[in-house]
Amino acid sequence: MLLQLSALLLWLLLPTLTCCNESNARSALFKSNSETVYDAARIARTLVDNSKLSIGNMATIFPDDGSELSSYPFSMQEYYASCHSNGSLTLIFLPISRHSKNIIHGRPHAASISVTATVPAASRPRVSLLGNVTVFTETSKVPDLATIKECYLAKHPDARWWLPDDEDAAHLAYWARFDPHAVYFVGGFGGLHYIGYIPLEVYQEAKADVGLLDDSYTPFREQVQQ
Ligand SMILES: *[C@@H]1O[C@H](CO)[C@@H](O)[C@H](O)[C@H]1NC(C)=O
Ligand SMILES: *[C@@H]1O[C@H](CO)[C@@H](O)[C@H](O)[C@H]1NC(C)=O
Ligand SMILES: *[C@@H]1O[C@H](CO)[C@@H](O)[C@H](O)[C@H]1NC(C)=O
Repeated sequence: MLLQLSALLLWLLLPTLTCCNESNARSALFKSNSETVYDAARIARTLVDNSKLSIGNMATIFPDDGSELSSYPFSMQEYYASCHSNGSLTLIFLPISRHSKNIIHGRPHAASISVTATVPAASRPRVSLLGNVTVFTETSKVPDLATIKECYLAKHPDARWWLPDDEDAAHLAYWARFDPHAVYFVGGFGGLHYIGYIPLEVYQEAKADVGLLDDSYTPFREQVQQ
């Protein structure tokens, strides 16, 4: 009985002993598992929208046409620019590129684009967008063309050499839009971070927030020691 009483007393006192105030206690309790799907969406949008390079890793699938690499995944860097408030991405579609050939043979015109923190690590956030590509073979049909072009060139000034509708351009090119259909996010280590799908509407409505992204790199070894 005495033992039970003292246990009860200890249990009652423990929060006040271990923690100096309520907000401290709360952050100690919930910090480890506080990344909600909404936080995840804002972090993901920050990674994609504020990426200095605006270069993602694109994955497409070779057409199922009986050729040697048929149905193999193909992955390589791709320029994008986040020029739509709903998170759809602007691309320049070069028919000569391997990705473009794979996309155009796909039904739907499927692709996946992933973006990581500036210095990627197992502990750092990354997001994979799965969606399809709409190619504007007529430049006059691109909605808000002037804005799109300005937005894309702000991220990729070197792309001025291969802009659509430029007769002197190095390659035939078209404006294209990538619409995500599914969003898969890994915030870092599980338990501390959100891992899983972010519902599309949540992703589309989320706003980038640079304050959320501490881009300083902490190797895992040091994190464990902290
Ligand atoms: C709780 O304690 C922390 C430091 O231990 C302090 O920064 C914070 O302001 C305190 N909060 C309140 C509400 O007193
Ligand atoms: C995103 O917004 C653009 C207009 O800025 C629109 O054309 C596009 O269809 C939207 N994407 C989705 C998936 O709703
Ligand atoms: C993209 O996906 C949407 C929704 O699944 C579909 O309606 C549309 O036809 C697709 N577009 C292309 C070019 O594959």
